[in-house]
Amino acid sequence: MTDIAVLLSETRSFPPPADFQRQAHVRDRGLHDSATADPIHYWAEQAKSLTWRTPWTQVLDWQPPHAKWFTGGTLNVAENCLDRHLAGPRRNKAAIVWEGEPGDRRTLTYWELAREVRAFANVLKSLGVRKGDRVGIYLPLIPEAAVAMLACARIGAIHSVVFGGFSPESLRDRMNDAQAKVVITADGGYRRGQIVPLKRNTDKALEECPSVQHVVVVQRRAAGPITEAHVDMREGRDHWYHRLMQHAPDACAPEPMDAEDVLFILYTSGTTGKPKGIVHTTGGYLVGAASSARMVFDLKEEDVFWCTADVGWITGHTYLVYGPLANGATCVMYEGAPDWPERDRFWQLVARHGVTILYTAPTAIRAFMKWGVEHPRKHDLSSLRLLGSVGEPINPEAWMWYHEHIGGARCPIVDTWWQTETGGIVISPLPGLTATKPGSATQPLPGYSVQLLTQQGEPIPTGGGLLSITRPWPSMLRTIWGDDRRYVETYFSKWAGRPDLYFAGDGAKRDEDGYWWILGRVDDVLNVAGHRIGTMEVESALVEHPAVAEAAVVGKTHELKGQSVCAFVTLRDGHQKSSALREELREFVAQKIGALARPDDVLFSADLPKTRSGKIMRRLLRDIAEGRALGDTTTLADPNVVNALKEQYADSEG
Ligand code: WTA
Repeated sequence: MTDIAVLLSETRSFPPPADFQRQAHVRDRGLHDSATADPIHYWAEQAKSLTWRTPWTQVLDWQPPHAKWFTGGTLNVAENCLDRHLAGPRRNKAAIVWEGEPGDRRTLTYWELAREVRAFANVLKSLGVRKGDRVGIYLPLIPEAAVAMLACARIGAIHSVVFGGFSPESLRDRMNDAQAKVVITADGGYRRGQIVPLKRNTDKALEECPSVQHVVVVQRRAAGPITEAHVDMREGRDHWYHRLMQHAPDACAPEPMDAEDVLFILYTSGTTGKPKGIVHTTGGYLVGAASSARMVFDLKEEDVFWCTADVGWITGHTYLVYGPLANGATCVMYEGAPDWPERDRFWQLVARHGVTILYTAPTAIRAFMKWGVEHPRKHDLSSLRLLGSVGEPINPEAWMWYHEHIGGARCPIVDTWWQTETGGIVISPLPGLTATKPGSATQPLPGYSVQLLTQQGEPIPTGGGLLSITRPWPSMLRTIWGDDRRYVETYFSKWAGRPDLYFAGDGAKRDEDGYWWILGRVDDVLNVAGHRIGTMEVESALVEHPAVAEAAVVGKTHELKGQSVCAFVTLRDGHQKSSALREELREFVAQKIGALARPDDVLFSADLPKTRSGKIMRRLLRDIAEGRALGDTTTLADPNVVNALKEQYADSEG
């Protein structure tokens, strides 16, 4: 409620600057109007900008909650992202401008990238990878990550990228769920000057991944080779990327794929159980990615587009690789941390590469604010013409800071709301058309139908409610890998008898102008530094520790990260609480899942607040973590538990 009150008081509005508007792809509402009048026709028009091998016979086949788009059509994603640019002036244009954290640099033209992808596609084939097989990608943010994704797409293999910051156990679970045949990794990557031992992690993960037959290892040389301490190549299973590539032929015809063939699986956190393998298919996904990249980022031939996300997340899939490359854009890719070696690294990159469009996350913007304006001021940022934000709500102060200090008050800001499940941006300003309001993602893109609903499914014209997408869209997830029931239950069962309504899991507010203000998750999914973490995943990790009997995890508001992980832990008999054990548990979670899940707070408690039916009342734990007055406690089995916890929490804070 307080969030809504704060947002309501935001009255500033920024119309598109005249000179931006003049050159923009979209500058009048005609597109919105025609898309609303006939969304199917609109999407068919968008799809025509891609290269199809055979045309589709039906645009949409909707059997709620299962959609098929562009049925009967065939195409290849790699051909659309590469080959079709090679005949014209884009042939020698930079596709990827890359910088490693230690300062090493590489630029790949469309021609070079296409060659590398074809050769690597042949390497995959030589390792026995066939159409429909799953390939794991566990790499630092280096050009080979895009090469590996596109090579899979070229031969019709399904990739599943796992963020390089995830632990061996996270990799293992994802590879087992996907039944991957091959894993592509590197000897290491760089993060804040340290080597991330990806190959060693992979070895550990693969001790329990019987489906994986081969591992391809990219040699990440920068400040000299990564030492043998980090790599132990297993005969027969492990192969160096550069050796395999030496002899790989560079001709490889793109496999014509059915529009509904799976392009990739990307795992994301849910409220319960293990991460969900979100399934995206070929035709619809690429239509969504390509059209939104062009429209929202107003992509032009001369642009230098920098999306700072890692390929391990959906943002990296859609707006670092597929969307911009399908448009023939130049993409900047940076491997490392924003404060390495100094806090001006991003601004140095913008100036050095002449970045025109910067797409980053509120958590980064808040960190830059905290570090101070002297860092961006050291560099010439005048090449920038458009800024973007994604991953969590951006607070109006952060928006204003971004606008003034990075955008020089001249660049429109696109605050883009979407999810792993949506495949591409759903709510966002169109920078040449929409007047922006700091903190609002503004309005749904053309072709999307979004509504605010009550718990009972009644539409709410203005005010707060649950965000629902009420018509299928091309880049929507198709299912959860191996678990279609969970797909139906999680996304299309919120409103009884309405399997056509997609439940996003976010709360939102609509103001009198029809602008959307995203309020965050309404379920138990945390958003830490723009990354989704399931409370359940952290709880499962904690209870694996021998000292822990029970754990409940909630999110707590955090100045920079948006939310931090706060864990309430009950110990087994015979174990004593101590600050050493607290540290051990924090580290334990980081080892089990990855550093981003490490709890900031661990609170030991003799008991957890539960309902009479035994359900942990996370809502009350959130109140405690936030230091708020406790909400309704009447359904508690034992009201004393929360009071004791509250006192203890106050002590631990002080
Ligand atoms: C949140 C990232 C407010 C939201 C693309 C969503 C946002 C979740 C925004 C998806 C935004 C993303 N404003 N909240 N502009 N963008 N979110 O799957 O809670 O990693 O449900 O996809 O991030 O996170 P995911």
